[in-house]
Amino acid sequence: MSNSPEFLVFGATGQQGGVVASSLRKARREVRAFVRDPKSERAKALVRQGITLAVGDLFDRASIDRAMTGIQGVFSVQTSSPSGLVTDDQEVAQGKAIANSAVAAGVAHLVYSSGAAAGKGQTGMGHFDSKSRIEEHIRCLPIATTITRPASFMEMMMLPGMGLNTGVFTFFMKRDQSMQMIALDDLGRINARILCKPERYAGQVLELSGQDLTGKSLEEAFSRAAGRPIRYQRFSEEMLAGNDFLRQLTMLVDNGVVSGVADIPSLEHEFGPMLKLEEWLRGTAKTLFEKALNASEADIVLR
Ligand SMILES: NC(=O)c1ccc[n+]([C@@H]2O[C@H](COP(=O)([O-])OP(=O)(O)OC[C@H]3O[C@@H](n4cnc5c(N)ncnc54)[C@H](OP(=O)(O)O)[C@@H]3O)[C@@H](O)[C@H]2O)c1
Repeated sequence: MSNSPEFLVFGATGQQGGVVASSLRKARREVRAFVRDPKSERAKALVRQGITLAVGDLFDRASIDRAMTGIQGVFSVQTSSPSGLVTDDQEVAQGKAIANSAVAAGVAHLVYSSGAAAGKGQTGMGHFDSKSRIEEHIRCLPIATTITRPASFMEMMMLPGMGLNTGVFTFFMKRDQSMQMIALDDLGRINARILCKPERYAGQVLELSGQDLTGKSLEEAFSRAAGRPIRYQRFSEEMLAGNDFLRQLTMLVDNGVVSGVADIPSLEHEFGPMLKLEEWLRGTAKTLFEKALNASEADIVLR
């Protein structure tokens, strides 16, 4: 298979796979993307970047096996139950299916994108514990593997409903409590570098984050970037009492399980400077930020 691309990227029409695939292309590496619908706009955008497509579905193991042919390095990511597309057990089955297929195809290196809460004991939240289960499976594989655990994405803060348009931004941490976050651009370039240097990163578990952010630092960064005051507040006790999902997540921020334990100075030493919120708001996220600031009530759907 001398004409095969070197890397296979799952979820390439989504956030993580998308930035990993484009970072690999920027490094002039050959990429195959596993997509469900080759006619979708996002799949066509991949082709315009010089990425070839393998059509399949993570519920169909034979289609995963076909996509693995001739591949050296795999980026594995699955959607999780809050998306409504899979159950927690299905996420685990898909993560294991990619891993088993990589082994069967003789792939040299598998990079699995997990989450910050994984490997820290049972959390009681299905879409976090699913990642610990996939990690356990991956650690026992007879091939080189690297696990990356990204902190919450900065992009999440731009979702409609977080309040940027109202001048009051609402999120998980208390005013002086910090939570780690990462910009997708950094997630993409770091995972791409790991894929390109398997000998350096095989066997490692890397916690990925770009910055420790407190409620106060969000308030300052958003206000400066917006040119008007944006006040920070944590989700109210009433709101948390009425929303199990948010309440459990907030509890896991408070007890440190999802607030992130990445050693940012070491990451920067290894991978170069990480994007900080203010720089990100002025750069890649400028349009996203402006859209969030100008969202109308009709755009607001709390996801
Ligand atoms: N949000 C955060 O802050 C955060 C932080 C750490 C970890 N995570 C984890 O990140 C993961 C999601 O990653 P993401 O945000 O990059 O996802 P995303 O943007 O929602 O994209 C999901 C990708 O998976 C593909 N996909 C879904 N079902 C599929 C199937 N049955 N077969 C083949 N492909 C399928 C989608 O393809 P289509 O285009 O065909 O739909 C899309 O490319 C979740 O497990 C989440 O828990 C999130």
